[in-house]
Amino acid sequence: MEDASDRIISLPVEDRYHTALQSYKKIYNESIEEPVSFWEREANVIDWFRKWEKVLDDSNPPFYRWFVSGKLNASYNALDRHIQTGKRNKVAFIWVAENGDEKIVSYDGLYYRVNKFAKALLDLGIKKGDRIIIYLPMILEAPIAMLAASRIGAAFSFVFAGFGPSAIAERINDSKAKLVITADGSYRAGKVIKLKEIVDSAIAETSSVTTVIVAKRIGLEVQMQEGRDLWWDDLIPRGSTYVRPEEMDANDPLFILYTSGTTGKPKGVVHSTGGYSVWVANTMKWAFDPKDDDRWWCAADIGWITGHSYIVFAPLFLGLTSIIYEGAITYPAPDRLWEIVEKYRVNLFYTSPTAIRTLIRYGKKYPEDHDLKSLRVLGTVGEPINPAVWKWYFEVIGGSRTPIIDTYWQTETGGFVLSPSIALGLAPLKPGSATFPMPGIVPKILDENGNEVKDGKKGFLVLNKPWPGMFLTLNNEPDRFKEVYFNRFNAYYSGDYAVKDNDGYFWLLGRADEILKVSGHRLGTIEIEDAIISSNDVAEVAVFGRPDEVKGEAIIAFVVLKQGFDISGDIIYSLRQHVRETLGPIYVPDEIHLVNALPKTRSGKIMRRVVKAVFLNEVPGDISTLENSASVEEIRQAIELVKKEALR
Ligand code: PRX
Repeated sequence: MEDASDRIISLPVEDRYHTALQSYKKIYNESIEEPVSFWEREANVIDWFRKWEKVLDDSNPPFYRWFVSGKLNASYNALDRHIQTGKRNKVAFIWVAENGDEKIVSYDGLYYRVNKFAKALLDLGIKKGDRIIIYLPMILEAPIAMLAASRIGAAFSFVFAGFGPSAIAERINDSKAKLVITADGSYRAGKVIKLKEIVDSAIAETSSVTTVIVAKRIGLEVQMQEGRDLWWDDLIPRGSTYVRPEEMDANDPLFILYTSGTTGKPKGVVHSTGGYSVWVANTMKWAFDPKDDDRWWCAADIGWITGHSYIVFAPLFLGLTSIIYEGAITYPAPDRLWEIVEKYRVNLFYTSPTAIRTLIRYGKKYPEDHDLKSLRVLGTVGEPINPAVWKWYFEVIGGSRTPIIDTYWQTETGGFVLSPSIALGLAPLKPGSATFPMPGIVPKILDENGNEVKDGKKGFLVLNKPWPGMFLTLNNEPDRFKEVYFNRFNAYYSGDYAVKDNDGYFWLLGRADEILKVSGHRLGTIEIEDAIISSNDVAEVAVFGRPDEVKGEAIIAFVVLKQGFDISGDIIYSLRQHVRETLGPIYVPDEIHLVNALPKTRSGKIMRRVVKAVFLNEVPGDISTLENSASVEEIRQAIELVKKEALR
């Protein structure tokens, strides 16, 4: 495997952050050498109705079970315990609308609304063990619905509000959900998104849904189907309402979040109630060291794991005050984020490299127009952060004062697994490195044969030991769970390339599989291929990523149309439209190229890697198994043509 040492740029930040590597190591070593006593202590970050009997049951790997027989409730931990301990007047969320409107809700206010909505769910017949789908934009009803579901013990599955009908239908069908919670519509960069309409077309492809709850966000006129569709506000019971939080087992599912895999069908990642809660609360505390009086802003969407863990659960478990921002980061102007940081004097700010790269393009003027001195810690997540982007973030946004907490993790890991940790002892940072493992995490870098590589060599990142936030399984697919993640290396395989440098710092080098990271969103190439094929005009397709300065990766599709199809200028537009309408706008290819054939193996498998290599002007590697080498030449010619067109 290639030598990746050129990625390693050592540039520690100011001396005052050169502290406490030893203190971090001490705690880390304890977590590995004495895991039982370590977790006995750290699990008290949340309240339990009944203490567990065993910290870890590892008798049936890889189905690890943490805090066996412990009983708890996530909504109780997010709300009730703060109300009882003098925090009822503390602000839980400051919600900022795209048009600047704001709503501020205290812990008591949130508790009141969650209880009301939980009662509404019970009145509809939803009960412990049921599955519900939430398809909501960034409005307060999103955390309220999540917490109400958790309160009554119904596992929710949140579908990102940027997904289209077929993505929603797939998730409804896999979870057999009876209930969908949505909104009339939402705003995105000033545009209206008709969410209820999208849900209606999704439900047409499903059979389990009997009820749709619709929250009113923008006052859009929507079709309400008699007997099925109900307005959120009409369901809220009058009078005082208290719903007793269900006693959930530590290993009862809290939620299922679907994520892209290497086959067309998304994977339903199932997270536990106990281990997950312990993990997100502790990792947030360790990495960011939030103080009681801080304002935290995780600028992700609630529909992705980042939002689940670090907008909703961890900050509420820790009793913090968070910002929730509804809209686009450059709307109405590219200083939107900095305006909010200044206005609400945000202390801890967490976003993605794509967001920073987008804003860098507008220059320093926008951040410099604002007072950002409230910021104490900056964080990043979702993709590798280029050292130059890291430095801009550190200098221009953080005023060279704030550490950058580069958190590496995944939907499957529940919370951070590699990250600098302020509370444990912040080692000197290196721009672009997620630094060291969180307590309990044992990362290794392996070669194709499963042997550890030397420091400085690129390899596959695996995690050798279970950790509390680890997902329980894949919904309905325990065999796929084993096969995808554990069979190859006999440890949890992340699907990422990484390298460890001589100082023990970890650097992430991108995905090693068929998954793309487009603007930090995790998209499966095969999902996009399936959508393109389903347009009926297409015989074959190969989708892959091309490096993109802002988005990380851009989506490229090479398409062979069906025989006899009349190639007109509109086909590319209609293919793009088709992907937009089925999967959603984030999946739309940036480029679609039409060719007569794609390179295939003798067994008929399309060689995506060869198309990609030719497209990127790289050596295609071993093509000895190619059935139709002429197609490689054709792709080359198609690309030449595109380049010429571009020059014209
Ligand atoms: O490739 C890694 C990348 O994002 C993938 C996980 O995507 P998802 O499940 O959508 O979760 C994203 C938010 C946690 C990983 O396999 N990734 C995530 N964080 C980083 C990263 N790559 C490099 N550095 C990071 N900090």
